[in-house]
Amino acid sequence: MLDHSALSPSLVAMASNELLFKLVSPEEIQAAVEIEQEGYPADEAGTLESFRFRQINAGDLFLGAYLPPQSNSSPPQLIGYVCSTLSPEEKLTHASMSNHVPGSSSVCIHSVCISKSQRRKGIALQLLKEYISRLSSAQGSPYKRVLLIAHEELRPLYEKAGFAWLGKSDVTHGSRPWYELRLDLGDKDIAPQIPPDVLQNLLRPSSEKHNPTLVSDCHHGLDDLIMSDSEGTAVNKYDLLCPRGCRSIILKKGVAQWTERTSVMKEAVIHSYQPSLHPQKQHSGGL
Ligand SMILES: CC(C)(COP(=O)(O)OP(=O)(O)OC[C@H]1O[C@@H](n2cnc3c(N)ncnc32)[C@H](O)[C@@H]1OP(=O)(O)O)[C@@H](O)C(=O)NCCC(=O)NCCS
Repeated sequence: MLDHSALSPSLVAMASNELLFKLVSPEEIQAAVEIEQEGYPADEAGTLESFRFRQINAGDLFLGAYLPPQSNSSPPQLIGYVCSTLSPEEKLTHASMSNHVPGSSSVCIHSVCISKSQRRKGIALQLLKEYISRLSSAQGSPYKRVLLIAHEELRPLYEKAGFAWLGKSDVTHGSRPWYELRLDLGDKDIAPQIPPDVLQNLLRPSSEKHNPTLVSDCHHGLDDLIMSDSEGTAVNKYDLLCPRGCRSIILKKGVAQWTERTSVMKEAVIHSYQPSLHPQKQHSGGL
């Protein structure tokens, strides 16, 4: 079993030139909205409700840029973010920006925003590159393209990040015209590189697992799951996908260290059916 507790925060988050990148948590949504409302004119800024909708429904597409902690007890400081929802449409429209259709191929960016005091230091560009790299390497994901609208003066920012300028957008939001940009993620079907029996175990939803998967279930045992990194440390060989079946990446390839411990027999957890527990209501939200 891979030992998540052995991960240091700097391994979980991807560090780059003193910046940390990680998904924005529900507790950080208020801070993100404050950056948004400081950054955009009132008729363009997203609301707390729309941010909560995005974090709840598309949290794996809500990436933050953070300054590292100043001390052991302080958390990293959120200084910017990029957030999106998914749509099956290949162009941005009001409809594609107002709904989130899980499993769709177009990543529709709603906002890229950096705290005023941190601008023009290359942070938005680094954040966009990190975002695109994560989308490109998301194994088994449906993402094929990234779409966004921007005002004309920001064309250089998005072109530096690899987007193509498509011209004026039909979307109206606030008083100024918007221009559409698009980045194709290309064919990233890398799943066949994983041996079929290992892939089957990684993708099997937990609801189908009556017994846990054992290392000995893999054809080549441990060799199917771990590899040595450049420093000779044994790390996980593949991205690990959500065991509940949504296929989000929960652990990137190469970031968890293999630690051997004495085996412990765990007691089975028995869940009793509770009719008083109803599924949560679906939220709806928009720009
Ligand atoms: C737009 C925004 C995200 C840019 O963030 P940033 O961290 O300052 O951007 P970067 O430092 O990474 O900029 C990289 C390059 O993009 C271009 N760029 C960035 N901001 C620009 C601006 N306001 N005007 C023109 N070009 C800009 C420049 O070419 C810049 O390189 P340079 O500084 O060497 O000239 C930030 O100004 C912001 O949050 N604005 C308010 C919200 C907003 O408008 N978001 C965009 C919605 S589409």
